[in-house]
Amino acid sequence: MRYQDIDWNEMWREARVRKSWQRKKREHWDQRAEGFAARNLDSPYVEQFLAHLRLEPEWSVLDMGCGPGTLALPLAEKVARVTAVDFSPAMLAELEKERSRRCLTNLAPLQAAWEDDWEAAGIAPHTVVIASRSLAVDDLAAALLRMDRWATKAVYLSDRVGAGPFDPDLFAALGRPFEPGPDYIITLNLLYSLGIHAHLDFITLAATRRYRSREEAIQSHVWMFDDLSAKEYDRLVHYVDERLVRAGDDWQLSRRTPPRWALIWWEK
Ligand SMILES: C[S@@+](CC[C@H](N)C(=O)[O-])C[C@H]1O[C@@H](n2cnc3c(N)ncnc32)[C@H](O)[C@@H]1O
Repeated sequence: MRYQDIDWNEMWREARVRKSWQRKKREHWDQRAEGFAARNLDSPYVEQFLAHLRLEPEWSVLDMGCGPGTLALPLAEKVARVTAVDFSPAMLAELEKERSRRCLTNLAPLQAAWEDDWEAAGIAPHTVVIASRSLAVDDLAAALLRMDRWATKAVYLSDRVGAGPFDPDLFAALGRPFEPGPDYIITLNLLYSLGIHAHLDFITLAATRRYRSREEAIQSHVWMFDDLSAKEYDRLVHYVDERLVRAGDDWQLSRRTPPRWALIWWEK
C-alpha cells in the first residue's frame, strides 16, 4: 500500500455520509442561529482560537462560515477590516445585531456558500482566511484550495477532534448510536497530499461548564439533536439532572469528553 494511493477527499466524503449529525441545508442553520449565538459568542473557544493568530492591525480577514460572528466580531475590533461570509441569513442577522451594537463599521457581512462562485459573489482576496468549525462541505479539497487561493498571507481553520463538541455519553444515554463523522486527521492528510504542510494545535474546552439555570444546562444539550422524541427528551433531562450540581448561585455540570478542536494553519 502506498500513501499516495489513499483518496483523503473520498474518505472525508464517505465519513460525512455516515455521521449522525446531518446538517446540510441553510434552513437547519437558520433555525438554530439564535441559540447558537447565545451559546457561542462569549465562549472560551474564541480566546483560544484568537490566541493562535498573531494579529496585525493592517490585516483584512475573510471569515468563511462565520455564523453569528463568533470570531468575526472580536477580529473586527483588532484588524483593519473583516468580511464575514455565511449562507444562513439568520446567522448573518445575529451578526448584524451585535455588529451595530458594537458600532463596527469595518465588518462586512456577505451571504454566500462554500460551493458558490466566490468571484461572482464579490469575495475578494484577504490577508488571512479563516474557517472556524465550518468545514461543512462534501468537497474538502476544493474548499481548502479556495481558502489557500483567497489568502495572501495565511489560512487558519478549526476542525473537529473525534466527537468535537458532542457528548458521546449523552448519545449513549438516549440509546442513539453516535457516528462523529470525519475529523481533523483527514484534513491534515489531505493538505499534505495537496503539498501544504500545515501546523497543528488543539483547543480543548473545559469538561466542566457553569450554567445560570437548570434550563440553560438542558438547552446546552438539546442542540445536539434535531428530532428528540418525548421519551428521549426525558432521558436527556435525566442525564443532565444526574450530573448537575450547585456552584454558588450557578449550576455546574461535568462531562467525561471535553469539547475538542484541532487548529490547523499554514502560511502562504
Ligand atoms: C458550527 S457553525 C460555526 C460558526 C462560527 N464560525 C463559529 O466558529 O462559531 C457553522 C456555520 O457554517 C455555516 N455553513 C454551513 N454550511 C455552509 C455552506 N455550505 N456555505 C456557507 N456557510 C455554511 C452555517 O450556517 C454556520 O453558521
